[in-house]
Amino acid sequence: MSLSRSALFVSLEGIEGAGKSSVLPALADAVLAAGLEVELTREPGGGPLGEALRQIFLNPSLCLDASEELLLLYAGRRDHLHRRILPALAAGKVVLCDRFEDSSYAYQGGGRQEALARIRQLSQWAGIDREPDLTFWLDLPPEQAVERIRARQPDRLEREDLDFFRRAREVFAARAKGAPHRIVRIDASLPLATVQETAVGILCERLSIS
Ligand SMILES: Nc1ncnc2c1ncn2[C@@H]1O[C@H](COP(=O)(O)OP(=O)(O)O)[C@@H](O)[C@H]1O
Ligand SMILES: [Mg+2]
Repeated sequence: MSLSRSALFVSLEGIEGAGKSSVLPALADAVLAAGLEVELTREPGGGPLGEALRQIFLNPSLCLDASEELLLLYAGRRDHLHRRILPALAAGKVVLCDRFEDSSYAYQGGGRQEALARIRQLSQWAGIDREPDLTFWLDLPPEQAVERIRARQPDRLEREDLDFFRRAREVFAARAKGAPHRIVRIDASLPLATVQETAVGILCERLSIS
């Protein structure tokens, strides 16, 4: 099946409160305004299995170790990639995904200190053989992120401490350094409008739309 010229897989990454959910609608609006089709999705979740697992994953009353988290995440990711993302790309859509695999490396690898090589093995085993074409890493110091999410009812991950998010941020940084063709760092401490404009500008350029 040939892919439409506009098919593009875009993910948004960053720690809690970095602004992913605030930037996503701006990206979607820009793509729609250019007459292209959008598939808006998220992880954990995205597919029927992943959305069911998300309820377990984020439940603050459950205690999961890194391996248990990874097994849930990758079962959901397999479903999400094969049953939703790849079909949307095959239909020529722009897929905008709130978190994807970089988050597993950052949170379970960095935050929970699971070996990155073990995550890589699981990824291969689960058949995650398509990475995003473009990833926006919204980078924010954890101290500022905690300030932003203070008002929220915390889910299981949002209860983690500053060191957890510092380690997660380090892994995001290392992955950005290792994949400069894919991962674009955006300073998420700038005003939201600036962050949105920056991301929209990069996406539009990539899609050759204005
Ligand atoms: N650049 C920004 N400057 C100031 N506040 C922001 C910025 N980006 C997001 N916020 C605010 O921070 C909070 C968390 O943003 P959100 O988009 O939900 O983050 P995420 O989805 O990454 O967890 C929201 O209240 C949002 O309005
Ligand atoms: Mg969000």
